[in-house]
Order: sequence, then C-alpha cells, then structure tokens
Amino acid sequence: MLKKIIETFFWVCVALSPSCSRNSSDILIGEYGSLTGGTATFGQSTHRGVTMATEEQNERGGLLGKKIKIITEDDQSKPEEAKTVVLKLLKQDRVIALLGEVASSRSLAAAPEAQKAKIPMLSPASTNPKVTEVGDYIFRSCFIDSFQGEAMAHFAKSLHLNRVAILKDIKNDYSVGLADYFERTFRALGGEITDIQSYSEGDIEFRAQLTALKGKNPEAIFIPGYYTEVGLIARQARELGLNVPLMGGDGWDSPKTLEIGGVSVNESYFSTHYAADDPDPKVKDFVDKYRKKHGSVPDAMAVLGYDAAALLFDAITRAGTTDPGKIRDALAATQNFSGVSGAISMDPSRNARKRLVILKIDNGNVHFYDAVKP
Ligand code: PHE
Repeated sequence: MLKKIIETFFWVCVALSPSCSRNSSDILIGEYGSLTGGTATFGQSTHRGVTMATEEQNERGGLLGKKIKIITEDDQSKPEEAKTVVLKLLKQDRVIALLGEVASSRSLAAAPEAQKAKIPMLSPASTNPKVTEVGDYIFRSCFIDSFQGEAMAHFAKSLHLNRVAILKDIKNDYSVGLADYFERTFRALGGEITDIQSYSEGDIEFRAQLTALKGKNPEAIFIPGYYTEVGLIARQARELGLNVPLMGGDGWDSPKTLEIGGVSVNESYFSTHYAADDPDPKVKDFVDKYRKKHGSVPDAMAVLGYDAAALLFDAITRAGTTDPGKIRDALAATQNFSGVSGAISMDPSRNARKRLVILKIDNGNVHFYDAVKP
C-alpha cells in the first residue's frame, strides 16, 4: 500500500514538474498517458521512452534552435480523464503537438479535441482502426488491429490449432476489435471458434466464463486484453484445469503479465511491436541504454514512446516550423523513418505499416518466436 502511495506521488510529480519549469521560448509538446491506474505500466513506460528521446534531441541542440519541453499529463487510465487533460494541454498550455495515448479507448476519447483544435496527435501504440479515422490530424506510429488479429489467426493455424475460444473485454474498443479480426480470419481459414465469452476491465473473477469455455473443449484461448486481467485469467484458467495455450495481442506487453500470471502464463504467445532479444543493433543499443538508465529491460511501450517522440521531432525538423498544419503535413509525408521498433512509413490513412513480432512465454521468460511482415 505504502509503495503504491509513493509510486502514485512520484508519477503525480512527474506529471506536474514540466509545467513548473516551462519557458516560453521552448517548443511545447503535450504528452498524455496512464501514469497511474489499471494500466499504469503503459503510461510509465511510454513516458520513459519519450523522455529519453527528448533528452537526446535537446543534447543535440533541440529543434529549430529551441529546447523541447514535454508537458506530461496523467489520465489515470480513464477515457474521460484523457479528454480532460488533452483539453488542458490544448487550451491552457497551447502545445503544438500531442503524443498519446496508448490505449485505443483513451485515444478515441481525446482525438476529437485535437482534431477540432487542428493540433496533430501522434499515438505511439493505439492499434484500433477507428483512432485515426477521427480526422486528418490524428496519426499513429504503430500497426493496426486488423493486421494483428489476422497475424494471430494465421499463427494459431500454423500451430495446428483448429478449435479456439475467445475471452474479450467488452468495455474496451481495442479488445472488441482485435477479437473480431481474429475471429473473422480464423473462421475464414477453416478454424472453429468454440465459444466467445466476455468480461469488463477491472473484473477480478473470471471463473464463470472460463468454466463455460472449458465445456466446449477448446485447443487454445485467445484473450485480447490488458495485462492485469490477462494475468488473473491465466491463473484462474489453470486452477480450473484449462491447460491449453493462451494467446493474445500487444495488451499483454508489460512485465506485470509475468508478475501477475506467474507460471500460469507459461506456454502462451502474444503479438507485439518489438522483441527485447532481437539481435538488430538498433534494438540492442536501445536496450543497453535503457537498462543503464532504468535498471530493467524496456517493454514495447518504452520503445514505442521513444520512436513516436523521435518521429515527431523528425517531422518538426522537416516542417522547418512549429506551425501545427505544417507539422501535420510533414507527419503525413513520413517515409522510412528508422525507429527502434522498425521502419515507419505513414500510409494515406495515417497509420504506420510495420512488421509485428510474436513472443512466446515459457519457463518464466519472454522471447522472440516469429515475425510477420505487413
Ligand atoms: N494496442 C493497445 C490498444 O490499442 C495498446 C498497447 C500497445 C498496449 C502496446 C501495450 C503495448 O489499446
């Protein structure tokens, strides 16, 4: 409990500090994310990545001869709060661009405000297709869920799994969308979806749904959720004797999945944006740098936060001005930007086309298993 209070206090301070030392000659960029709440690792990791990219850029002289100042706001893992803090960043701080959010439901809650204000918003990690459909000022530097869902359906087939159950979070746009893409592709490939059950973010009891799923004898369970619920679901599934492989998407990408799920998440697979054990020198460099600074291996969110910030800085440099409309055009024109998570090119719908990796959890370790090209 005490640890939690101190942690919350720390992140509240992080959220408040940039605005205290702001200087009007700085380039102001807003960052909003879940520094606290149910998906706190998403916001915290992203913030570390964004901060690293900003420090590096400022050491190289900043942007257009000015220092970059990131103003960070905590949305407490709540969509309504995401909208509130984005309005503050737009109206009070008058930022020239926004970085965020990770969770699709929160990006969807805030994006209409950025669009109305004509301030470019770059989501590092929201994969639900609807996010960038909000308007021409909304971008993402990650792949979308149709790609992720299809990749996992093909992957399940490649493991000779023919009967798969789905357990999704019905209150979460990301989870509902990803479940749908997986289901459609898996059926089209001749697979059988034995049952679909649902829960809501924040639930802690999943035995009723798991018992129902077990009755239909699936060969695997696809769980497109976030790490806290995924960890608990895995434990309860094993308790009920459901020992089939579990599968999921990037919402699993947090050290907490292993912490909460323990041995229950062994023999699981999930798709995500980067593998820490990738031999690529760019990845190795970043992992080393991050480890030195934070004493841990970066999760996908840290890498995506770093890449999104670096891409935004690159777009501002290419625009040659802090005019938000020109920054928008430069973001739209992004081709082959070299990120740690791969090369980033914006398609006409403002989504990045990027490769995806499939990680396997076994013996309490997460490691690279496969890669899928767009
Ligand atoms: N893709 C998830 C969403 O759209 C968020 C996420 C990305 C979570 C990367 C973890 C890692 O909601």
